[in-house]
Amino acid sequence: MRTQVVIVGGGPSGLLLGQLLHRKGIETIILERKTRDYVLGRIRAGILETGLVDMMREAGVSDRMDKECFIHHGTCISYENEMFDINFQELIGQNVIVYGQTEVTRDLYDARDACGGRTLFEVEDVEIRDAETDSPHVTFTIDGSAKRIDCDFVAGCDGFHGVSRKTIPDTVRKDYEKVFPFGWLGVLSETPPVHDELVYANSARGFALCSMRNEHLSRYYVQCDLDDDVFEWSDDRFWDELKRRLPESVADKLVTGPSIEKSIAPLRSFVCEPMRWGRLFLCGDAAHIVPPTGAKGLNTAASDVHYLFKGLVQYYQDNDTNGIDRYSERALARIWKAERFSWATTNMLHRFPDQSEFDLKMQRAEIESLHYNETAQKWFAQNYVGLPY
Ligand code: APR
Ligand code: PHB
Repeated sequence: MRTQVVIVGGGPSGLLLGQLLHRKGIETIILERKTRDYVLGRIRAGILETGLVDMMREAGVSDRMDKECFIHHGTCISYENEMFDINFQELIGQNVIVYGQTEVTRDLYDARDACGGRTLFEVEDVEIRDAETDSPHVTFTIDGSAKRIDCDFVAGCDGFHGVSRKTIPDTVRKDYEKVFPFGWLGVLSETPPVHDELVYANSARGFALCSMRNEHLSRYYVQCDLDDDVFEWSDDRFWDELKRRLPESVADKLVTGPSIEKSIAPLRSFVCEPMRWGRLFLCGDAAHIVPPTGAKGLNTAASDVHYLFKGLVQYYQDNDTNGIDRYSERALARIWKAERFSWATTNMLHRFPDQSEFDLKMQRAEIESLHYNETAQKWFAQNYVGLPY
């Protein structure tokens, strides 16, 4: 087989790139290891930066998002019984969109079907070959038979556990990593959201987050130990613990119910440099991971897609390699800022096992300066809504 761009990975970054390139007449084939239902079954976050929303529009995949999303003008932060609002609209004239990543991925799959885009599911043994030459190709097996696709470029959108990053030789690649000493226990419940904005809570018992998907579907998280077992957390224990970490004014409003999904996720920061090797370009989780505290996971994948899409269009339309040559540098510059925001908010809002009384006072002072200092709030707002591309 032959195509212009092979996209390894049918998650949000691979699909968004595929849709944007399709609208510019650039052909792609997406190779996905799992089934579509498996990919859509994964529960992920749902805060969309302006940049991602604009790209969904440019990709022609925004109708349902515009109909069903929430527009949030701000977010709330609480510490013990205090709570304050960071109003993005007032501070910097911008908002975020609340629309589940699963819905984003579903809309992108529907759009790919509608335009006849080729997606091969349940592929195995994917190998990216000759990426350091001008004629790379990808081999894989499907239904037990070996296949090969010749192409101009390979987009590695196959997540943290994919093959793309590992294709870059260790001699060329440098990985940066920080693993946090706790996880997030998340629950999805068919209950009305407890508040009209997200509530990020710092408490003596640890972090908690109140988020949502729609008027009837809420998403809550509590900080937990990494070696906790999800089966040790009954729904009652979860709701009780959540209430104890929220200000009374919020806890009293909390509507509880049976969890329809419950899982524990570790918290890690990870960046791989460079994000390009010859004709192979890494996007999204394949190159970087952020702790979810700053809601940057999907949005950093989107900014990668923005830079790669622009670079590939420049190459195919103007035979100009400037965009693809500067892809890694541009993508990483924005990634490191998102990594810092996610690291800083994680440090400000969680309880660390080795935190001294002095550390706790520093954390408290940081939250109070965010509470009462407009400049600090502006910095938070600019980073939360998304730094310009
Ligand atoms: N061959 C083909 N597909 C693969 C392979 C492989 N060897 N390895 C992984 N994949 C597929 C996975 O099954 C998954 O569907 O690549 C896809 C990668 O998707 P994501 O992990 O969602 O990564 P990405 O598209 O970059 O989206 C980043 O996902 O994890 C969240 O917080 C993260 O929001 C961020 C977003
Ligand atoms: C979510 O809605 O799942 C969510 C929102 C904000 C975050 C993390 C997760 O920072």
